[in-house]
Amino acid sequence: MIDLSSLALLKEKKALVTGIANEHSIAWGCAKAFRAFGADLAVTYLNDKTKQYVTPLAEEMEASIFMPLNVHNEGELEAVFDAIEKKWGKLDIMLHSIAFAPKADLQGRVVDCSKEGFLLAMELSCWSFIRMAKLAEPLMKDGGSLFTMTYYGSHMVVENYNIMGPVKAALESATRYVAAELGPKGIRVHAISPGPLKTRAASGISDFDKLLHKAQMKAPSRSLVSIDDVGVAVAFLAMDGAKLITGDTLYVDGGYHIMD
Ligand SMILES: NC(=O)c1ccc[n+]([C@@H]2O[C@H](COP(=O)([O-])OP(=O)(O)OC[C@H]3O[C@@H](n4cnc5c(N)ncnc54)[C@H](O)[C@@H]3O)[C@@H](O)[C@H]2O)c1
Repeated sequence: MIDLSSLALLKEKKALVTGIANEHSIAWGCAKAFRAFGADLAVTYLNDKTKQYVTPLAEEMEASIFMPLNVHNEGELEAVFDAIEKKWGKLDIMLHSIAFAPKADLQGRVVDCSKEGFLLAMELSCWSFIRMAKLAEPLMKDGGSLFTMTYYGSHMVVENYNIMGPVKAALESATRYVAAELGPKGIRVHAISPGPLKTRAASGISDFDKLLHKAQMKAPSRSLVSIDDVGVAVAFLAMDGAKLITGDTLYVDGGYHIMD
């Protein structure tokens, strides 16, 4: 039986949270939820410029590990996982909440996307998740859960989402393959698909306010999603009680994706 006697359902779990840029980040919503349910956190920040915004948030979470991580920089991912191994000797939860595409490629048509822009977007937004799964695997000795963030524009053509559509389609497919490969070790893999949220990454998408308006009008809930809504859904999937859920894309979008 799963112990429901306490609300600290992630107590003793160790969680790596990447992708916090500021208090609007989806990763911040997830970090808060993991912590509220009792998990210990490792938090990463992109570089010295963003460190000042992430430091108070990591402090609020009493993060045991706080390190730089630019997935493009050789050795930085490995350094984060080394630190986790030294400090905790294991990992239970890993959140990948990272995406990037060069502005010119993101804001242009898919057919006009440069090879460099496409490869960079794929590397930072998709390959980095696969690489993180590989590094997490030996640390998830008692199983665990891996999360990545995707969007509805992966399989539907969303105006202005452009090259991120194919990139997120690859990410969702990678989620299924990695789930199949790591499932026998008790490692679950989830792509989370939130409705639009006003974050720094979203500011690169043209006419984002129009997207927000449409999301609110069309979703059965008639409401926009918050980072806390996403965080609680992710925290639930990280709990032992959700151990037989894997490989899917979970929509946290007020039901938007079921509407035509
Ligand atoms: N905001 C939305 O509407 C929305 C909807 C669905 C999915 N998502 C996805 O959620 C995830 C998080 O985005 P967000 O909306 O919270 O925005 P955000 O700007 O707060 O987070 C994006 C994060 O990616 C990190 N990042 C970018 N390049 C990196 C690199 N080279 N190495 C390490 N980290 C890097 C940034 O530092 C930042 O912390 C992304 O995958 C995004 O595509 C966002």
